[in-house]
Amino acid sequence: MQNFVIRTHYCGELSRHDIGTRVIVYGWVHKMRDLGGILFSHVRDVSGICQVVFNPGVSKAVHEAASALRSEYVVKIEGSVRERPEGNDNPLLTTGDVEVVADSVEVLNSAQTPPFSISEDSKVSEHARFEFRYLDLRRPAMQEKILFRSKVISAMRRYLEDHRFHELETPILTRSTPEGARDFLVPSRMTPGHFYALPQSPQLFKQIFMVAGFDRYFQICRCFRDEDLRADRQPEFTQLDMELSFTPPKELFRIVNGLMSYLAQSVVPLMSVPESIPVMTYRDAMERFGSDKPDLRFAMELRDVTEVVEGTEYGIFRDVVAGGGRVKALAVPGAGASFSRKEIDDVGERAKQLGAKGLGWARRDDKKYNTPLLKLLGEATLDRIYEKAGAGKDDLVLLMADKWKPAATVLGTLRLELGRKLGLIPEGLFALTWVTEFPWLEWSEEDKRPVACHHPFTKPMMEDLERFKETPLEIRAQAYDLVLNGTEIGGGSVRIHQPDLQEKMFEYLQIPKEEAREKFGFLIDAFKYGAPPHCGIALGVDRLVTLFLGESSIREVIPFPKTQRGVCLMTGAPGTVSERQLREVSLKTRVE
Ligand code: AMO
Repeated sequence: MQNFVIRTHYCGELSRHDIGTRVIVYGWVHKMRDLGGILFSHVRDVSGICQVVFNPGVSKAVHEAASALRSEYVVKIEGSVRERPEGNDNPLLTTGDVEVVADSVEVLNSAQTPPFSISEDSKVSEHARFEFRYLDLRRPAMQEKILFRSKVISAMRRYLEDHRFHELETPILTRSTPEGARDFLVPSRMTPGHFYALPQSPQLFKQIFMVAGFDRYFQICRCFRDEDLRADRQPEFTQLDMELSFTPPKELFRIVNGLMSYLAQSVVPLMSVPESIPVMTYRDAMERFGSDKPDLRFAMELRDVTEVVEGTEYGIFRDVVAGGGRVKALAVPGAGASFSRKEIDDVGERAKQLGAKGLGWARRDDKKYNTPLLKLLGEATLDRIYEKAGAGKDDLVLLMADKWKPAATVLGTLRLELGRKLGLIPEGLFALTWVTEFPWLEWSEEDKRPVACHHPFTKPMMEDLERFKETPLEIRAQAYDLVLNGTEIGGGSVRIHQPDLQEKMFEYLQIPKEEAREKFGFLIDAFKYGAPPHCGIALGVDRLVTLFLGESSIREVIPFPKTQRGVCLMTGAPGTVSERQLREVSLKTRVE
């Protein structure tokens, strides 16, 4: 075995204090330059980069050895640190005012020319970056992101350990967990025809920990969901999962609020977290922002103008209102004056793509309304709409008539898209909010029955439960999400802890008794042995880190992500397996 002399310093940590010191550093050749016969190398390790000088005047042999160095060779350098000659400082490097004059260089390994440059921040295709992820991860910008992620996770651990949480593990080979996505299945060799499912979350196990008396649980855990992927979704992702006994949700909010403040203090200095993160109900978020994850970095709120247009002769508005629908308005700042007619028509087209039957609009030229709605509604009504919508004279007013939810959702999406287009969303701002009182159930077209909005262990608002027969979809849940800049970064709820209510919940969800028994019998049984009241939450670690860094995809902060098609380009997973492996788990494939 090679006998390594331990390094004396990390490359990126050399400073003026080390001037005159003999050092041994290890790393990769980041860049080589030949300036008038003297060779300069940037050598990189996990801490950063330092400059090494190979001067034939110091050692001819070392200079000659250095002339064989190429990018990404692995080297050991010995030499002494000196101040850089005047005018040669490099303010771009933290070590930029010193350099190592080498009197020994050892090549520990050579390297082929990499398919893309590690030292330059050039644009590289995602395909190449994922295929050669080990090289992509060597790039200083990527190292920074991955190390930042590691700091966020250790700060989370520190905070929670200080707040009496215990980090406890839960199984990866388990039964289906009901988070609403498709499961990844693992066939069992020992029980032919039976499958494990990878956990969509540790939901049931963390509740069992509460029954077992552990009081405050957390885990930085991997979750697996076979769903269509997007910029903020991966098939396996990391949660900071938490569960607490004997704790009202208010206290859980306080703890998570404290955690966010601690992260701001210790790792995300740009983020300022209010002492008390604002709370809004789901209904309020939908009515005001047309979204259950409102982006509060900018105003542009939706307003309800149903009252104003109620008595109008205009058939479309009148019929929608008569059918119990609403007319919602959105004032788009300045767009009345700045948008061309084509741009306004494009907004209408976009609304149709989003499912709207049509989109009304109004703007003003000088003092007159310039809109097809003028004839249908009249000036006085338009005045009132402008007033109610909080619109100024240069604003474009968009109007959407439909059932309250689609009307709000379409305008909510336009709010975000137009806000972005008009540069109204400030960069570098962090806006957090809680959204509470989500619906308990929603109708599933696919299953033709109500399904749980969060998951079937979420407690309803007990006062709403009385209306179950008449308006089941209006029952509110004791469920909450944490939202940052329009992204859901966490979700949780107060749990049902009484076995009879849990059984009733399965009945409401029309899950047959035998099925509920087979899948979740152990939980209901556990509840019969003294379950404490409990609640919990899970934060999406990948999403949080992405937002902290101002990135647009979670693939940027996951060391080994999968593509949009769920493929790992480095390992080639998912791959085929041998006939023998299939036989061992009693499976046959239909795909050749
Ligand atoms: P939920 O399903 O809301 O709750 O998930 C919690 C948080 O996990 C993140 N997340 C994801 N991140 C990346 N890729 C995905 N595919 C993905 N899916 C979810 C989100 C989300 O807010 N067991 C419950 C929690 C509880 O009730 O305590 C749960 O998993 O940021």
